Amino acid sequence: MSSPEKLLSISKVSLAFGGVKALTDVNFHVNKGEIFSIIGPNGAGKTSMLNCISGRYQPNQGSITFKGKEMLGMKPNERSDLGLGRTFQNLALFGHMSVLDNIMVGRHHLLKNNFATGPLYWFSGAQKEELEHRRAVEDIIDFLEISHIRKSQAGTLSYGLRKRVELARAVALKPDLILLDEPMAGMNQEEKEDMARYILDLNEEWGMTVIMIEHDMGVVMGISNRVMVLDFGRKIAEGLPDEIMANEHVKKAYLGEEDELLMEETA
Ligand SMILES: Nc1ncnc2c1ncn2[C@@H]1O[C@H](COP(=O)(O)OP(=O)(O)O)[C@@H](O)[C@H]1O
Ligand SMILES: [Mg+2]
Repeated sequence: MSSPEKLLSISKVSLAFGGVKALTDVNFHVNKGEIFSIIGPNGAGKTSMLNCISGRYQPNQGSITFKGKEMLGMKPNERSDLGLGRTFQNLALFGHMSVLDNIMVGRHHLLKNNFATGPLYWFSGAQKEELEHRRAVEDIIDFLEISHIRKSQAGTLSYGLRKRVELARAVALKPDLILLDEPMAGMNQEEKEDMARYILDLNEEWGMTVIMIEHDMGVVMGISNRVMVLDFGRKIAEGLPDEIMANEHVKKAYLGEEDELLMEETA
């Protein structure tokens, strides 16, 4: 059997804020085509890990390679040019702008030609490019079933819908690897199920590799290929969902949440 292709490799990554060690010596890799989840108690360093990958934070030491290229030292926009996309733990939409415009903002950096080339527009290929651009955005709107709210102001939508629009904007960049920070936080059960299905489809039909931080163990164990557990900035476990559910070390880290873990497993 051929070994899986490593898309992302994290090696000995450490990050400190003054005296607070957010991450200590973290190693893991993500294979092309996987849904890889990161779990752990609040403050464990999960968001910090995603921020190191996206370039928002610079680790104090370690190495992060994506498609075989070292990313440390690269700016966030250089990383998105390489095929990295992300959503945020807290919503980051332009509330006064329409859904469509919010998604177009995501696509914008992919355009080679400037829209404002005047008469040249008709000859330069920019027209064709704009058409392709709009088509790509329409595909995403259809896929995420947000056609009915395309003209709504993002700020007026329900929380669940805003999370979906945020996902659409990230997907609009056609990333090869997408980083999702608590995509289902604050959602009701139905919204969570919808979101889980979109993530699965993005993975299976669009071929996107996914790294997801999520607290809902039912979802994590249901859709992930592999799971990593962080606790106080250190990796304490990594493995298949079943292995993680059975891991004593993990249950201890979730002290008090153990019953919840077991309940959701059988739900
Ligand atoms: N920008 C920052 N400045 C100072 N401390 C931070 C910053 N970001 C994260 N931390 C600290 O790093 C630790 C890990 O935080 P975080 O990565 O947000 O955890 P998680 O996402 O697992 O809840 C926490 O102690 C947090 O207070
Ligand atoms: Mg977080």
